[in-house]
Amino acid sequence: MPLVTTTEMFKKAYAEGYAIGAFNVNNMEIVQGITEAAAELHSPIILQASAGARKYAKPVYLRKLVEAAIEDTGLPIALHLDHGADFEICKSCVDNGFSSVMIDGSHHSFEENIAVTRQVVEYAHAHGVVVEGELGQLAGIEDDVNVSAENASYTQPDQVEEFVSRTGVDSLAIAIGTSHGAYKFKPGQKPQLRFDILEEVSRRLPGFPIVLHGASSVTQSYVKIINDNGGHMEDAIGIPEDMLRQAAKMAVCKINIDSDLRLAFTAGVREYLTANPSHFDPRQYLTPARQNIKDLVRHKILDVLGSANKA
Ligand code: G3H
Ligand code: 13P
Ligand code: ZN
Repeated sequence: MPLVTTTEMFKKAYAEGYAIGAFNVNNMEIVQGITEAAAELHSPIILQASAGARKYAKPVYLRKLVEAAIEDTGLPIALHLDHGADFEICKSCVDNGFSSVMIDGSHHSFEENIAVTRQVVEYAHAHGVVVEGELGQLAGIEDDVNVSAENASYTQPDQVEEFVSRTGVDSLAIAIGTSHGAYKFKPGQKPQLRFDILEEVSRRLPGFPIVLHGASSVTQSYVKIINDNGGHMEDAIGIPEDMLRQAAKMAVCKINIDSDLRLAFTAGVREYLTANPSHFDPRQYLTPARQNIKDLVRHKILDVLGSANKA
């Protein structure tokens, strides 16, 4: 099976009230952990590469790893560019065989966002590739761009119909209070998402797939393992999973998860090396790291996304 786009995945997910996990990938062990879990649970998935991932691993390695995972598992997998910064980056991923790209024009003015998104849609659609756009700005760190909580802004529902109709995007990322990274809320702050905005957006765009970025839950058991083994992540707080379950039942068809994978992976490495300080074979400490990725993705598919047996 070749790479697939997200069109059919989203149609089914929307109709049946679940979401597809979009997991960020950076190396072989992460790809293997995610896809082994998804294959065992017959779940469709999206594997996505950020600018940081492409710089670290090179796009060709990421694409070949994903192709290997498809050959190994037979799963329908979409390869997606996460947070494409401009037309050139999106074009190069389309040219390099990605099946989906995100053009993140959310930091531009409304008109500039429409212009660059429209340009990407024209090129991508001509090559059979689907496009995710973004309206509203999330707080947090993505690549080296740090958007402070004061500069973050919720999506304005009265802009979504015009944005979607003038750009032709296939899905839309919105800002309802999630943020990138492992420190999403201050200690003592009650995590809250603007479900009223999500509801209003979906009322204005019936049947249209919505994307939630910054959706890691920051699994406290992994934070504890990291802290118990020399780390310092005391105030790491994520999105409660019951909120993600609720979003998945609504118009949200794609839920982006990166920080949770990083925590699971790092917990595996730290725990192993603390217990075995004289070991130095990367295969030894990467084995529990990969297993943690698999366990985490299994949990997300079964208990949060609801995408098991939907492949
Ligand atoms: O949305 C951002 C992702 O977490 C990617 O971050 O560029 O450091 O890989 P990265
Ligand atoms: P997290 O940092 O919450 O995992 O968000 C990832 C993301 O949105 C990637 O685009
Ligand atoms: Zn994101």
